[in-house]
Amino acid sequence: MKPELFLTTGAESNRPLVCVIDSDELPAFIELQDYERDLLAKGLKEGKESVVLYTRQGCLAIVKAKSNLPVFRQHEELRRAASSLTEKFIETGSADVTVTGNNVKASLVLAFTEGLALSFYRFDKYITKKERGKKLPDTITISYDVAASEFEWLKRSCEAVYAARDMINEPPRKMNAQLFAQAVKDLGQEAGFSVEILDKSRIAALKMGGLLGINSGSIDPPEFCILEHKPENAVNSKPLVLIGKGVVLDTGGLNIKTGDYLNMMKTDMAGGAAVAAVLYMIAKADLPLYTVALIPVTDNRPGQNAIAPGDVLTMHNGTTVEIMNTDAEGRVILADAVSYAKRFDPLLVVTIATLTGSAAMTFGTIATAMMGTAPEEYLRTMEECGEEVYERVAPLPFWEEYGESLKSDIADIKNLGGREGGAIIGGKFLASFTDAPFIHLDIAGPAMLKKNDHYRLKEGPGTGVRLLAAFARRLASGINNSNKS
Ligand code: BES
Ligand code: ZN
Ligand code: ZN
Repeated sequence: MKPELFLTTGAESNRPLVCVIDSDELPAFIELQDYERDLLAKGLKEGKESVVLYTRQGCLAIVKAKSNLPVFRQHEELRRAASSLTEKFIETGSADVTVTGNNVKASLVLAFTEGLALSFYRFDKYITKKERGKKLPDTITISYDVAASEFEWLKRSCEAVYAARDMINEPPRKMNAQLFAQAVKDLGQEAGFSVEILDKSRIAALKMGGLLGINSGSIDPPEFCILEHKPENAVNSKPLVLIGKGVVLDTGGLNIKTGDYLNMMKTDMAGGAAVAAVLYMIAKADLPLYTVALIPVTDNRPGQNAIAPGDVLTMHNGTTVEIMNTDAEGRVILADAVSYAKRFDPLLVVTIATLTGSAAMTFGTIATAMMGTAPEEYLRTMEECGEEVYERVAPLPFWEEYGESLKSDIADIKNLGGREGGAIIGGKFLASFTDAPFIHLDIAGPAMLKKNDHYRLKEGPGTGVRLLAAFARRLASGINNSNKS
């Protein structure tokens, strides 16, 4: 279930109707009885952020922006207000909700709409007995003076988040490596970006020993997805390369995971789904940015001839890796992709992965851990984008000492340093496979939710899609044009 977004003018008589305001002034264009006006005014005076009335014409919600807050916080409060109204709209049983505003900035109406659209998603394809009377609206109509380009961006962004959620929430049997690759192909076909899938024999020919090694406990072969959006009017000649972890199920391998969180480990491909969704979005939005995405895909299981602690793998770039723990598998498959990226001469490499419990322990579900070697300007831009879309990123230090614990006695490097500082050590492992400017985003906390966090819905909320799309948009609009050459 995913609502479709529309933009119109003059739909004030539609119901349910939401009107965003930023003062106590009630919209004159909405027909109200005196007592209804009094009720609304009373609610707002009491400091309520939203007041809902059931008028003769139907359900009307007035939502007040918190204009004392910085703009990015106002936007987030509106997204959350939208999500808390979801049940009310389900109760109306209506097929559409219309959103408008009363003399407010268009961005406020858009933010509310975004929260609503992301809250209306349900992964319900396996529910055969739907609850009667529980129906989400199929469409959301914005009836306000909003720039067509901004509306288009929002619509594409919501569609991309749904696409990522659809992939992440699939049960592991319905999203093995082959089905993941097929889903990526389908997205490419729909949005118009190119997709090349390397199968096991081509992965072997490229000597991607990391991906092959992690895959050796599985009966499903691995896949390596190469996605490309290369518009003629691109502002950059060197691509932005996004790399996402595509572990479709992480059992830990022979270092098998215990505890009740294994059922969340189908979401260990959230980084891979996010980068595929970003390509889907920027291709649909015709963003003038040359962008490549790489996704190594496999499950991590203890079967067959699974690698064991003590094994040594030879990676795509010839580096040898001593496996200390088969549960630190994400970095091993990603490292092959990071070194493969070299052939693109990247402007910037960004990895995004549910990589470490350490990041989740540090930041909880509130923030993504960010680290890297990229110029300050890129790191700052990523942080700013994080605030803008409210997928906040928290910078971690990336001092060279953190890499020292990865020294191995019998190989070039090992896949495990100490547990302390684990998120940074994971990032250091990846950084050792590239000379390009590099940012690593560890989404282990916010990408897997056990309960809904407002419009960030539980299980796979689609973390990273809106963040990376905003970042790509900023690059396309010219940050660091000096790198254009
Ligand atoms: N996919 C996990 C990371 C993870 C853990 C994500 C919990 C979300 C919640 C990853 O592959 C993993 O198992 N990491 C280990 C690494 C350790 C063995 C160095 C971890 O974090 O415990
Ligand atoms: Zn994992
Ligand atoms: Zn693992």
